[in-house]
Amino acid sequence: MDLEIRPATEDEAEAFGRASALAFGAPFDAERFSRSQPLVDLGRTLAAFDPGAGPLHDGIVATAHSHAFEVSVPGAESHAAGVANVTVRPTHRRRGLLTALMRRQLDDTHRRGEPLACLWASEAPIYRRFGYGLATRGLRWQLERPGTSFTPGLDAGALEARLMAPADARSALADLHERTRATTPAMVKRTQGWWDRILHNAKGDTLAVVVEGAGRPEAAGLYSIAPSWASAGPANTLSANEVYAVTPQAYAAVWRYLLDVDLVGRVTTFHRPLDEPLQWLLANPRALQPALVEGLWARLVDVGAALGGRRYWAEAHLVLDVTDRFCPWNEGRWRLDAGIDGASCERAGSADPDLHLDVADLGASYMGLAVFGSLQRAGLVDEDRPGAIREADRAFAWSTAPWAVTFF
Ligand SMILES: CC(C)(COP(=O)(O)OP(=O)(O)OC[C@H]1O[C@@H](n2cnc3c(N)ncnc32)[C@H](O)[C@@H]1OP(=O)(O)O)[C@@H](O)C(=O)NCCC(=O)NCCS
Repeated sequence: MDLEIRPATEDEAEAFGRASALAFGAPFDAERFSRSQPLVDLGRTLAAFDPGAGPLHDGIVATAHSHAFEVSVPGAESHAAGVANVTVRPTHRRRGLLTALMRRQLDDTHRRGEPLACLWASEAPIYRRFGYGLATRGLRWQLERPGTSFTPGLDAGALEARLMAPADARSALADLHERTRATTPAMVKRTQGWWDRILHNAKGDTLAVVVEGAGRPEAAGLYSIAPSWASAGPANTLSANEVYAVTPQAYAAVWRYLLDVDLVGRVTTFHRPLDEPLQWLLANPRALQPALVEGLWARLVDVGAALGGRRYWAEAHLVLDVTDRFCPWNEGRWRLDAGIDGASCERAGSADPDLHLDVADLGASYMGLAVFGSLQRAGLVDEDRPGAIREADRAFAWSTAPWAVTFF
């Protein structure tokens, strides 16, 4: 479909919001819309206009937006386009409008010099064709109480938890989120506007718990409790997801607090890190009952800048032969010289390749999630030089699992 695609103007902002809500099947909420506006950069929106579609939504039949994010990558930080509001009106679906939006958006992202794009997908099969790979996963776990004691000797120490209203814990949460981000790949820097949203969305009965050590917050979390009185007795459910800790002692203390609230029968989380340390702290690790959930999808918009912009656990010298059907500027061979202090990734001309792979699979391994050996066994990576897979796996690994916890 050959329609005009351009950023929405100030006057069209509400129509853009309504068009987007409609495609997601959500009612348009004026209050929510006006609260979200500070997070939307209209210059980074894209709207497709169909003059034949009538006056609804000012003729906007497809939308997309991208946030200008700073995202942590292994050992460093990168500019990234945080893709959101991707919609096509039901009357216009499967005529290539999403493809046209992705084309324009990735061209714009490339022109802006943002090496990465990332997104949460409504449906998993949509984005690989545009070069995105699944770059993070999360654990949704639940613990039934009682039975949450720590292995003897791994107690929570002497740190005490303080309870407060979420707004009063804002600076502690923001500080701890930022310190967690410094060591954890795939976390988006949260501006004041993002904290406004997160704290506003915290339900009315949400509480904050803060653990201090050496005069500074070392752990904090938000949680809420859904009451339930079963015939056998109290069975409240405590839900917590925004929990950050920067020392083992504070981590143990904040979780000991959350696991020990009286009358709670079950503790649940929504999207916690894959390497959640609780699994090693619990005397009975099987009590954690984890479910693996999909995380953030990432796309290397500029292979050279993205691979050169992170650090690597071990030294590696690899020629990668990259297939990228949607962004042909990435196609071809790249020489990656990587190490813990940094990396360079330049065009390799006709040098013999060590590995052949698709840009989507580089996206899956970029933050440290997918291992090349597994991608090879899936038939997605070919090794030309024996040992290259092992070299790549040693280098791309990181000591903290990637964790995306800001939903956009
Ligand atoms: C998902 C959505 C944006 C697709 O838009 P669209 O204009 O129909 O997509 P296109 O016509 O450009 O499709 C491009 C390709 O993607 C495929 N595709 C599109 N939506 C898909 C889906 N939900 N699942 C699997 N494949 C999908 C198409 O079949 C087509 O494949 P092809 O190239 O092999 O023919 C649209 O259906 C929509 O608005 N859905 C509801 C909101 C939503 O989920 N948005 C995504 C937010 S992350």
